[in-house]
Amino acid sequence: MKKIVAFNGSPRPAGNTSHLLSKFIEGANENQIEIEVLHPQRLNLEYCTGCLRCNVLRRCSIRDDDWAEVSSKIVNADVLVFAAPVYFHHVPAPMKAMLDRFRSFINVQITETGLIHTPWHTWNKDFVLILSLGSSDAVDADPVIELFRYMTSILGENNRLHIITATRLAVVKQVIKTEEELRELYQKMRLSPQLAPVDFLRNQELLEACRELGAKIARRI
Ligand SMILES: Cc1cc2nc3c(=O)[nH]c(=O)nc-3n(C[C@H](O)[C@H](O)[C@H](O)COP(=O)(O)O)c2cc1C
Repeated sequence: MKKIVAFNGSPRPAGNTSHLLSKFIEGANENQIEIEVLHPQRLNLEYCTGCLRCNVLRRCSIRDDDWAEVSSKIVNADVLVFAAPVYFHHVPAPMKAMLDRFRSFINVQITETGLIHTPWHTWNKDFVLILSLGSSDAVDADPVIELFRYMTSILGENNRLHIITATRLAVVKQVIKTEEELRELYQKMRLSPQLAPVDFLRNQELLEACRELGAKIARRI
């Protein structure tokens, strides 16, 4: 059976990220597919030490943590989902620490003009990036998007990247609040209550976009 491995990078168990990811999973579950959700902050993962031995070993040299198991799940997955809140224009630290370990999936050769990246495995995966932000401006997510464009390309030219950015979600569970709840919240936050119906609709559209993407990807693989 085809497999989705999803990483939920939010430290808030019932936060916006979790709700957006749940919708993606709901859509994917409309098809016969195996889905596993992992939380980088709950995994025992050391930081990359920069030893670069992976360039020869074809695996990470750190052996006494969860990476061997997690990396094998990553390699065997058809779809990798990275759902996270944006923290200071990036993903939260546990997810970034995990992403640094992806260095062990590739050989890097230094040339006079730049770097040549050769993945140890043949990668042909869908990467899904679901980002939740407090800001109204999705520009805060640009460094994360840039990183994932880079990573998906160096891990194999056949990889595909799908991105959903969910803005104006500063408060926990904001994405699932009713129009009335948003109006009350915006009054407390001294935001125009006129934003409530607009944001309510937009949040519904975002949740539906996550569900549709899950269904579309699970149908295709
Ligand atoms: C430490 C920290 C840093 C943050 N940095 C940003 C940021 O740079 N840009 C932004 O739009 N939101 C930022 N936020 C807001 C969160 O991204 C936003 O509230 C998100 O919806 C939280 O998702 P969650 O409910 O899944 O935890 C930050 C929040 C925290 C706690």
